[in-house]
Amino acid sequence: MSTLSASLPGGTWTLGDLTVTRFGYGAMQLAGPWVMGPPADRDGALAVLREAVALGITHIDTADAYGPRFTNQLIREALHPYPDSLHIVTKVGATRDQEGGWPPARRPEDLRRAVQENLENLGLETLEVVNLRLGDAQGPQPGSLAEAFDTLVELQRQGLIRHLGVSNATAEQVAEAQAMAPIVCVQNMYNLAHRQDDELIDELAEQGIAYVPFFPLGGFSPLQSSALTAVASRLDATPMSVALAWLLQRSPNILLIPGTSSVAHLRENVAGAGLSLSEEDLIELDKIGR
Ligand SMILES: NC(=O)c1ccc[n+]([C@@H]2O[C@H](COP(=O)([O-])OP(=O)(O)OC[C@H]3O[C@@H](n4cnc5c(N)ncnc54)[C@H](OP(=O)(O)O)[C@@H]3O)[C@@H](O)[C@H]2O)c1
Repeated sequence: MSTLSASLPGGTWTLGDLTVTRFGYGAMQLAGPWVMGPPADRDGALAVLREAVALGITHIDTADAYGPRFTNQLIREALHPYPDSLHIVTKVGATRDQEGGWPPARRPEDLRRAVQENLENLGLETLEVVNLRLGDAQGPQPGSLAEAFDTLVELQRQGLIRHLGVSNATAEQVAEAQAMAPIVCVQNMYNLAHRQDDELIDELAEQGIAYVPFFPLGGFSPLQSSALTAVASRLDATPMSVALAWLLQRSPNILLIPGTSSVAHLRENVAGAGLSLSEEDLIELDKIGR
């Protein structure tokens, strides 16, 4: 672990046998509008990825559905051959349609193809962490994941996947996956205003499993709250910094993957997430999503 990585806010976490910085980077924002097509500023997108690694970040979250393909190809172009310390987490289980929708693609043949395409587009022989993305754009949906997860377990046995996780999952689906094979992470929507997974986060923390919130800054609709603005202005910080710092302080198993297409925002987020929130700040912020 480089001294840069060691100095990132939050320190490190272990996903199976992979050490990652708790401050990671979510690559979804690098594709075109609504995560379709290539980025408007290709050089800018490559610069963000290179800056993430230069800042010491060792965890990048992606999916072949971003673009589709464009984001993974940008990661490869910017960073391949990858430093040994860098770990790329990807997901399978959703594809894209002409309208930019995210239809499920969880039949065994869809998942085998998606793993193959992620390997090709990222230029890897093994995917280090693969999340099975469940549910739909409205969020997690009930139902068994057995057939889909079994396919990924089989691909893991074949050596194409090192570690497994689930995403957009209910607590029941997390438990169902764990009964089939070890998982190293759960990636669900969670932030200051969306606290539906509070109990799950605490349970996973006890088991040493990472919880990786997507939309940590609110995603396509930035977090807005008078309490957040009040705490941020009292600390002379941005609401984004407070939102990220709150997640790091919320639980040691939370890993950050905020998305940005801007080098300036990336630097701002890294610097801001290290903000120390007092007991009083935490009580005020806690009321937002309760
Ligand atoms: N598993 C799933 O189903 C799923 C779903 C969604 C996302 N994800 C993952 O989660 C990651 C994070 O989600 P996300 O990127 O959608 O949402 P996010 O991190 O909550 O927010 C990203 C948005 O915040 C803006 N932003 C970031 N830093 C900022 C700053 N310092 N000042 C002002 N604006 C700032 C970005 O705009 P700029 O580009 O202008 O900075 C972007 O519009 C994704 O990259 C993806 O890897 C997973």
